[in-house]
Amino acid sequence: MNHVIAQMGLRVPDVAAYTEHVEATLGVEAIEADATGARLALPGQSPCLVVTAGDGAGLEYVGFWTDEANLAEVADRAEAAGVQVGEGRVFGSVRLLAPNGLAVELAAGSAEPRNTQRREGGPTVGSLDHVSLQAADLDSTVGFFVDVLGFRVVDSVGSVRHWLSCGPNHHTVAVFAGTDSLHHYAFEADNVLELQRLGDRLALRGQNFVWGPGRHALGANIFTYHLDPAGALLELTSDMIQIPDDGSWVAQVWSPDTPASAVMWGPYPTPEFREMTIPIVAGEAQA
Ligand SMILES: [Fe+2]
Repeated sequence: MNHVIAQMGLRVPDVAAYTEHVEATLGVEAIEADATGARLALPGQSPCLVVTAGDGAGLEYVGFWTDEANLAEVADRAEAAGVQVGEGRVFGSVRLLAPNGLAVELAAGSAEPRNTQRREGGPTVGSLDHVSLQAADLDSTVGFFVDVLGFRVVDSVGSVRHWLSCGPNHHTVAVFAGTDSLHHYAFEADNVLELQRLGDRLALRGQNFVWGPGRHALGANIFTYHLDPAGALLELTSDMIQIPDDGSWVAQVWSPDTPASAVMWGPYPTPEFREMTIPIVAGEAQA
């Protein structure tokens, strides 16, 4: 079952500051914006970010493209599993509520072409790539993604961190044990040179990476992380493992006793890195 991550809703304290940041550093441009909110998109794509002004940062929803058959099946499985399901409000036609409070919206559609429009002085960002969540009830939240939405677990660290796939990308959602929250959201780029361009762009603006560049062991993707103006961790990633659709992938369970799964090369994260979360704005599925 394929889904494609398409859009995120973020609550941000300062819409103008957020919009300026993602335009200048990622090339995600405002389609419409005022003091109360903004819809932001990569060139030639539909909006990947919908931000609304509010007190403090928060993750409001994540939207996925899926196909018509999946939409009906997901709704049936949600009702059978006792998961709240209602009409979509912002992105999709269906809205489901995950056990960690995250609203997930599904819309009929398929992946849009990656952006390749080069931006001088900054990275060329292809598309929104993945989200990393935390959940107080980890097993139920992973179960929601697997049993209701049809994701599969592709790698784990012990029983406390799981990486979930819904297409070729090694992971589109990760869920770690913790408070119900968003740990980071990620855009993808072609290669590490684009990550270098982001670093240069941030440095000229007086900002540094919080972690990276480095290469994760799980997923093998190269990464940088920095804080957006709302205080959410934003990853730019490249070269993630693409899993063949032939059943040959064997999920691994990595040891939780070493940080080896986190990084192959580059520094280890600081202890504070794991705590850099923003809350999930717990949604209701029903209007
Ligand atoms: Fe990530």
